[in-house]
Formats: sequence, C-alpha cells, structure tokens
Amino acid sequence: MTILEIQQLKRERKKLAVVTAYDALFARIVEQAGIRVILVGDSLGVVVQGKANTLSVTMEDMLYHTKLVADAAPRALVISDMPFMSYQVSAEDAVRNAGRLLQTGAAAVKLEGGAVMADRVKAMTSLGIPVVGHLGMTPQSVHALGGYKVQGKADDQASRLLDDARALEAAGAFALVLEAIPAELARKVTQALSISTIGIGAGPHCDGQVLVLYDLLGLFDTFVPKFVKTYAHLKTDALQALSRYREDVEQGKFPSDSESYH
Ligand code: KIV
Repeated sequence: MTILEIQQLKRERKKLAVVTAYDALFARIVEQAGIRVILVGDSLGVVVQGKANTLSVTMEDMLYHTKLVADAAPRALVISDMPFMSYQVSAEDAVRNAGRLLQTGAAAVKLEGGAVMADRVKAMTSLGIPVVGHLGMTPQSVHALGGYKVQGKADDQASRLLDDARALEAAGAFALVLEAIPAELARKVTQALSISTIGIGAGPHCDGQVLVLYDLLGLFDTFVPKFVKTYAHLKTDALQALSRYREDVEQGKFPSDSESYH
C-alpha cells in the first residue's frame, strides 16, 4: 500500500479500513485479513502497557513496536504515532523523531493538533516525511479537554476544527484522523478536503475508518467507547480457554498420552 493509492481511493470514493497493531503476531493477522494500512498507535500506552492514558509513551516504545509491526507486515503501509513531547516543543524535534520512526520501518507518522502544528507538518512533509494529522478528541490533550469527550459539538468549535483541517492539508498532511466528533461535522470536513479523512467515532461519511485492534476483537473491556463495534469476543474465549487449561492441569488431565513423548 502506498500513499498514492490512499489518495486514489479518495478520488474513487472507495473506503479504507485501518486498524492498530503493536506486535508481529497481530500485524501478520491484520495483513492476512487484507487490511492494508496499520497504525502503530500510542494507544499502546493504554491497551498494551495498562496506563490510564497515552501520555507516558516514549519514542523508544514507539520505535520498538513500529519495528515489530513493520517487519511482520511488509506489504502494509505502517503509520506510526508520534508520542507526547516528541513534536510539541519544536519543528526540529518533530523532524528528528519522525525520521527515526521512518528509519525503523514506518512509512508515515501521525501527530495530534491543528493549525498550531502546521509548521511541524510543513517541516516534515517538505523533507519527504509523510504526515497524518489528528483532530477532534486528541488523547494527548486529555487533561486540557477535561476527559475523553466528543469534540466539535458547538458551532465555534466545529468551525475551528474545519479551519484546523484546512491548515493541516495546506501544510502537506496526506490524511487526517477525526476522532469523536459529530458525523455531520466529519462529513463537512471530508467534503471540504482533497486529502483522506479517517474516522474513529466520527460517523460514516469519512473516507476511511480506524479502530483500536483490541477493541474490535473484544480483548480490551476496561473502557469501551460508544463508537466501538466489537467483531469478536477474544477476552471471553481466552478466559474460557485458560480456565479449562487450569482445570485440566489441576485434575491431571493435561498432558495426556498424546501430548507426551515416548
Ligand atoms: O493511538 C491510537 O490508536 C490512535 C487511534 C485511536 C486513532 O490514535
């Protein structure tokens, strides 16, 4: 998958399915399922590391998980999240850290924020680093936003978000993640831009959709937002399997003859 193909999909009004992955095992499964764009999201801070938010994720964490995914899914386009404080301070930081992610195997990076980040996006894209923006509910600003809440409901917020989207497009971003905003606003942004919008909790009108892998597989149930559709129940399956294994061991049923060497 290439960025040119993503742009082509927008022109042809074809939808793009994106999902997160953080390790080789799941990256292979995602690729086998025909999903051609993988986001190594800093959501790994929550679903892999067990933290309350994404703020403590480091560049080293992102480099490690990006390498696992990129090596395991060589045909997919891997987008890697820039973690908190890897781009906020300066455009120089942004370029240096994005470059490290590309050297590790990512084809593009994603950062959060609107017009205020346009200089970072411009600095990166002018040096050949493809960038995805992220607007709406931006988890790295969870404290400033007062929690995980739908954004862009009020008229002034909505028009600011549209301005931010235009500023990121003008700065060279090739796609935008729109998280937790009203479907009508996402439709407006999608129609206003020539770059792809990828929604998560942003309704059906975006050019593509993204979900956190462990949410859609039913593995992570600490907090399940309204926008998640659960396509499997792997936590339930895992609990049943592990309980059966424990019982078999405790009752002397495992290993049996067929699992033993002679
Ligand atoms: O970190 C992440 O997984 C994300 C998606 C939720 C879009 O940013």
